[in-house]
Amino acid sequence: MTSHRIALIPGDGIGTEVLPAARQVLETIGARHAIDWDFQEFDWSCARYLSEGAMMPPDGLDRLRAHDAILLGAVGYPGVPDHVSLWGLLIPIRRAFRQYVNLRPIKVFEGIPSPLRGALPGEVDFVVVRENVEGEYSEIGGRLNRGFPEEMAVQEAVFTRAGVSRVVDYAFRLAGRRRGRLTSATKSNGIVHTMPFWDEIVAEAAAAHARVTWEQEHIDALAAKFVLDPARYDVVVASNLFGDILSDLAAAVAGSIGIAPSANLNPEGEHPSMFEPVHGSAPDIAGKGVANPIGAIWSAALMLDHLGHPEAADEVTAAIAAALADGSAVTPDLGGTGTTAGFTRHLLDLLDLTDAPDLPGLPGLPDPSRGGSAL
Ligand code: NAI
Ligand code: MG
Repeated sequence: MTSHRIALIPGDGIGTEVLPAARQVLETIGARHAIDWDFQEFDWSCARYLSEGAMMPPDGLDRLRAHDAILLGAVGYPGVPDHVSLWGLLIPIRRAFRQYVNLRPIKVFEGIPSPLRGALPGEVDFVVVRENVEGEYSEIGGRLNRGFPEEMAVQEAVFTRAGVSRVVDYAFRLAGRRRGRLTSATKSNGIVHTMPFWDEIVAEAAAAHARVTWEQEHIDALAAKFVLDPARYDVVVASNLFGDILSDLAAAVAGSIGIAPSANLNPEGEHPSMFEPVHGSAPDIAGKGVANPIGAIWSAALMLDHLGHPEAADEVTAAIAAALADGSAVTPDLGGTGTTAGFTRHLLDLLDLTDAPDLPGLPGLPDPSRGGSAL
């Protein structure tokens, strides 16, 4: 029996609806793979901010530190500025725990039509590796001359050799375990200091990973190609801002934000990593019980993989593919009439059926974060 201590932070809105679904899946799969979960739930959220003045308690990070991983729903609440929820919880966790890789797998599934004619199931299957702790999202900068005509704002982008090298290395290693193709997002024609530096480090890393074919692409052209030819990509590595934008675009290519997962990884395993669906708290549908739980469940599968249970992770992703392909229980965002609870129940039933290692029609999904814990 392997035991893992997991911090659960459901957050706000549909975060509190999709996280219980992910937990149920983890409990079911854990029972089958002799994984013993020790879950501890935290009510840190915008709701807490409104009643207590802070998203999390002052010793919040210390309380998370003892866990093997963090599973988060979503935070955000109308009336609480988004920078409060982001800088009060998510960003401190990502930075304090050196989660410098933000991994976002994108896949077009059977059963979810992409809005793009050319994006076909089985063909579009790639991973965006986003730098997660420096780059354009830095706290360095300020405002001057407030209220005067010459008012100004300066925001510094920070790229360090250590910071760029480690995420680029991670991306090359990941490409080596996948189809062996890496694309680096750049803009060295317009951003003349940091981006040429980024390009140099990518070229150096490429020399150390000779079996990976690589290219660099300016971010504007790359955005267009994501739409025109998404099947050409395998691993795409990008700075914090570029990766943020590209991965939302990619989630749209895959057909629904409700299915997109993400992992904030500390690949060395020195600190807990955090797993969360890409979507937010969706106030427009919160409380109705119709949120799509796939983003949270797939994130839980990434967590299983990171914790060293790749077979269990594959079973969960295979069950997701099966539930999407049959379509009988899918939620309204995918054109169905299903509920969060109903879809989860259906998925759990399918999970029971996947005891047979090769369920017909279910090619094992790629395991983008596999090896994460070992790197
Ligand atoms: P959102 O992702 O919450 O919602 C965008 C649209 O997608 C909505 O129409 C929503 O109903 C739909 N949607 C999202 N997830 C879904 C799911 N699982 N099932 C079915 N439909 C789904 O993004 P939005 O509206 O921009 O932000 C709402 C709040 O969430 C804001 O406060 C924002 O700051 C926060 N947010 C938090 C994130 C996080 O915690 N990591 C990420 C993105 C937004
Ligand atoms: Mg984003």
